[in-house]
Amino acid sequence: MAANYNNSAWFYDRLSHLVYGRALVEAQVYLLQFIPPNSNLLIVGGGTGWILDEITRIHPSGLQVTYVEVAPKMIAISKTRDTGGNKVIFINDAMENVPLIDDFDIVVTPFFV
Ligand SMILES: C[S@@+](CC[C@H](N)C(=O)[O-])C[C@H]1O[C@@H](n2cnc3c(N)ncnc32)[C@H](O)[C@@H]1O
Repeated sequence: MAANYNNSAWFYDRLSHLVYGRALVEAQVYLLQFIPPNSNLLIVGGGTGWILDEITRIHPSGLQVTYVEVAPKMIAISKTRDTGGNKVIFINDAMENVPLIDDFDIVVTPFFV
């Protein structure tokens, strides 16, 4: 693993906002409007999962989301997010270890590397 985000999970979002302001959030949120309804989505390295709240604001239901995040504490916080009526599968592993059998309409890798 290139960097370990597990220990910083509880303050990661605050730190990110402190360093980058709203820039990283706005860049990601801007793109969410282009997700077609009822898409099959892959999210890699979603961090604390705040993006799930934002996705649900736009698509309260109908999406199939596979959410892959390597840091256990990041994924624990992500599981508390509002996913509405969307179907979300959380996978706590490194992306490179995950055999994916689905076809995805959209792949989101938000500042993952
Ligand atoms: C820079 S953070 C960005 C978090 C979030 N996307 C955001 O914009 O707030 C990168 C995230 O990718 C995760 N990550 C790093 N390598 C990964 C891998 N190989 N597979 C899955 N997740 C990974 C980290 O645990 C971390 O939560």
